[in-house]
Amino acid sequence: MAATLIDGRAIAAQIQRELTARVAQLKQHGVTPGLAFVRVGEDPASKVYVGRKEKACAELGIVSETHFLPEATSEAELLALLAKLNSASHLHGILVQAPLPKQIRESVIYSSVLPQKDVDGFHPVNIGKLMLGDVTGFHPCTPAGVMELLVRSGVKTEGAEVVVLGRGNIVGKPMAAMLCQKGRAANATVTICHSATRDIKAHCLRADILIAAMGVAEFVKADMVKPGAVVIDVGVNRISDPAAKNGSRLVGDVDFAAVEKVAGKITPNPGGVGPMTIAMLLQNTVRAAEKSLN
Ligand code: GUN
Repeated sequence: MAATLIDGRAIAAQIQRELTARVAQLKQHGVTPGLAFVRVGEDPASKVYVGRKEKACAELGIVSETHFLPEATSEAELLALLAKLNSASHLHGILVQAPLPKQIRESVIYSSVLPQKDVDGFHPVNIGKLMLGDVTGFHPCTPAGVMELLVRSGVKTEGAEVVVLGRGNIVGKPMAAMLCQKGRAANATVTICHSATRDIKAHCLRADILIAAMGVAEFVKADMVKPGAVVIDVGVNRISDPAAKNGSRLVGDVDFAAVEKVAGKITPNPGGVGPMTIAMLLQNTVRAAEKSLN
């Protein structure tokens, strides 16, 4: 039997409807949420992602501004821009889109965004709060979106065996930290698998919930999934396809056509995790604006 689809577009739209009331409330207090995007260089995917985020902001009534810097920008130049954005009172959030050109250290940049404007949740203070279970910080948007997908589609995480494929700072590591927190919507037993894991398939087959975020095209095959498991595909990989219009197409980390026959629930890709990342960015920005009132 085919798996039930976890519809990220519908869940994200619901969250955005819920945020509308909060934005209206803020505006009654004279505050319009403001978000700055910073894009450095010509990464084509970043251009698309920032474009989608700008559009979502406009639909919700968040005022956004995008700062584009050329590929050759130095770390000092980017830090100078961040200093201005940190002190701009009309901005409640700042997002520096990754990846950055190689002359710029991401760790330096993400540490230089004020923690209270860090709607990406990448500042060490916010990562630290996440590890400590301190809910006053901001959570990274993609894993936060996965948590919402699970909760809102009725997936019980409490006591579940969860396997996270990938240990990146944007998804894998924060994802595992969120899932193992004490709390009803978490409380999972979490395993992180990565490139040095000995028998990934054996781990995957134990998973009640399998989260693929390692960036390898269609890595998860049907024989790696326990029948009835929940499968979340975070991957976005471009593969060559001579039959496609521009010679390539995007696929996830999960071989969807095969895995949907085995899984109990599965995210489509696109239309699963992607819209949730944007919804969580909007939510973090609204929260940042609300905090500015206190
Ligand atoms: N690049 C890929 N995902 C993200 C994200 O969530 N935030 C930022 N800033 N860059 C990204």
